[in-house]
Amino acid sequence: MTDPIGAGSCTPDRIAESHKRDFWINENRKHIPEHYRLQKCGRIVNALVAGKECDLLDVGCGPATLMRVLQRNIHYHGIDIAIQDPAPNLLESDILTAPIRFGGKRFDIVVAQGLFEYVGTHQSQKFREIAQILRGNGTFIVSYTNFNHRARQIIEAFSNVQPLDEFRGELARHFTINRYFPASHNWYGGQPTRKLVKQVNMRVNANIPVVSPRLAVEYFFVCSRRQESAELATPARAVMPVTRQDPASSVPETV
Ligand SMILES: C[S@@+](CC[C@H](N)C(=O)[O-])C[C@H]1O[C@@H](n2cnc3c(N)ncnc32)[C@H](O)[C@@H]1O
Repeated sequence: MTDPIGAGSCTPDRIAESHKRDFWINENRKHIPEHYRLQKCGRIVNALVAGKECDLLDVGCGPATLMRVLQRNIHYHGIDIAIQDPAPNLLESDILTAPIRFGGKRFDIVVAQGLFEYVGTHQSQKFREIAQILRGNGTFIVSYTNFNHRARQIIEAFSNVQPLDEFRGELARHFTINRYFPASHNWYGGQPTRKLVKQVNMRVNANIPVVSPRLAVEYFFVCSRRQESAELATPARAVMPVTRQDPASSVPETV
């Protein structure tokens, strides 16, 4: 993709090429502690599943920390380019050179958090592959950085940098976006670390006019598979009303 907001002069695929397993095996150790966004993602998934048995795939799972915050009825699987502790439910795979697959399995929930900033020019293809492994009534939860933040930080490893509207538009070509909302608001950017700020952000899943576009650090998108007939329909609005009984509709304004 192009570089509309100044990520740098190196091409996206060159950046992705130079950040492979050797880089991530050290880097993703930082995600062993349950950081703020991961905890919030766990709350969203647990609320959505509401105690039912289901299969979940975490793409770009890192050290599989999400597994620790999920209820036991959620059968966790993970894919990553650099798996820290091999296990039967974790698959080491470079998703930029191989399709997103876990054997022939399909999933009720697919999560990709903190991943799509690193997929170079493969974003569309990866959405397509995720749609293919999602069960009919499944849910895809994806996070993406708000590169319009007043204090945005573009780190060297990011190979897929675009304004949020562009990301959302492309996502909407592959999925129905049932809801999207900031993972957190933070004046200085970065995930919140102060206790009170974390507590407030953790519970509120709402777009705040004027404020969110400049202070939302990252967004979560809660999506379902597209109805064939709705192909290429109108892009989603912020906090779309949900008109049918869909698993994603059970993510409340506060979780
Ligand atoms: C910023 S970390 C996020 C980790 C975890 N999802 C979290 O939110 O804590 C990005 C993750 O994507 C993985 N990753 C990056 N490029 C990848 C690729 N080409 N194929 C598979 N995984 C990749 C990294 O190893 C890393 O674990």
